[in-house]
Amino acid sequence: MTFHVLTLFPEMIREFCAHSIIGRAVKSEIVDIKPLNIRDFAVNKHGQVDDAPYGGGAGMVMMAQPIFDAYTSIAVQKNTPVIYLSPQGRILTQNRAKALSKEKEIILICGHYEGLDERVIEEIVTEEVSIGDYILTGGEPAACVLIDTVSRLIPGVLGKEESHQNESFSTNLLEYPHYTRPPVFRGREVPEVLLSGHHANIEKWRHEESLKRTKSKRPDIL
Ligand code: ADE
Repeated sequence: MTFHVLTLFPEMIREFCAHSIIGRAVKSEIVDIKPLNIRDFAVNKHGQVDDAPYGGGAGMVMMAQPIFDAYTSIAVQKNTPVIYLSPQGRILTQNRAKALSKEKEIILICGHYEGLDERVIEEIVTEEVSIGDYILTGGEPAACVLIDTVSRLIPGVLGKEESHQNESFSTNLLEYPHYTRPPVFRGREVPEVLLSGHHANIEKWRHEESLKRTKSKRPDIL
């Protein structure tokens, strides 16, 4: 899967994708990250990519032309999703991430300032995605979150021990609590059932804990 990322800060994307599980997926060529610097497509000699808003008001607006030219410089198949990271978008969910993980290519556009000239959104964007109801300084952290969430669902990206069979949201329940050595930490003991070796009882306990947790922490997803 290739992620083309249109951004003013390609290093933010490159750095994020160089580490941990995503870094490994890039090295093994399961995931390809192609940041594109929007400034490279500016036409005036100052490298200008933003301008004052028509109608007045505070802030700057990212000009349509450099973003459009960056987009047209990428040869992608028709129907490739073109996602604008924006707090106005639909909130990213595990289900949407699953669907996106089946794409061959995805184009991500990171905005800054007051956002993009509306006409480039109308022209090329197929969907707007938000990572939550709060405002970031730019789209890059959101693009990294999307790349991370989608990539780990691509077969081969997670190792066996990082499996996502039982994880939160795959069953609409939060995960049960986990413990490892030592058996007692600051007087807190590992639940006895986990030391019993009785697999059916352990399964049952874990399911009950998942239900309890979901009811108390995230009743909205039940
Ligand atoms: N850009 C600024 N805030 C954002 C958010 N919450 N989600 C996605 N992109 C953004």
